[in-house]
Amino acid sequence: MIISPSILSADFANLEHDIKAVKTADWLHIDVMDGHFVPNITIGVPVVASIRKVTDMPLDVHLMIENPEKYIEVFAKAGADILTFHYEAASDVKAIIKKIKSFGIKAGMSIKPKTPVDVVFPYLNDLDMVLVMTVEPGFGGQKFMQNCAEKIPAIKEKAHDSLIIQVDGGINAETARICTSYGANSLVAGNYIYKSADIKSAIASLR
Ligand code: DX5
Ligand code: ZN
Repeated sequence: MIISPSILSADFANLEHDIKAVKTADWLHIDVMDGHFVPNITIGVPVVASIRKVTDMPLDVHLMIENPEKYIEVFAKAGADILTFHYEAASDVKAIIKKIKSFGIKAGMSIKPKTPVDVVFPYLNDLDMVLVMTVEPGFGGQKFMQNCAEKIPAIKEKAHDSLIIQVDGGINAETARICTSYGANSLVAGNYIYKSADIKSAIASLR
């Protein structure tokens, strides 16, 4: 199980401290929002580059931006290890995947709650990861949507053995169990981890 704490719920004035606080997890989830694809604006390239200097954890960068193809190179060079774009924002999915992989990093594609699962099928062989959003992207702390997690078995059925199926949004110990029972093997969690009194136990409880 790949646990990826979302620093969207961290204290941005104490980011290095809050990154080190989740070192028992596997990846670090970084939400990049542009104010167009989603109504919120968060982290950009210079922050990813600064984070790269203070942790060895793989950086799991979730691009919630329009025109993702324009920003692949800069995020790869800033230190992303996994770069996930949104299907809804992509004009040429195959070209985007190819470009991400050309930097020797993992390519992920995400779908929003209202996007039907079958749009991912043609790309499963090219992708390293599919990210199934279990809330509308844009903000932390929203309620988990179970009907989104129900998309997972159809992906799993058609996926190659090493495909990572990640879920993001409203994940806690209880919803994590639902997602893993459907076949998810990577969990993003923001509020559940960062708002907990004992971060280490919260991470352990997701495993
Ligand atoms: C939402 C982001 C998530 C967010 C999850 O658009 O993609 O990564 O941080 O936050 P929680 O776990 O609090 O729902
Ligand atoms: Zn995310």
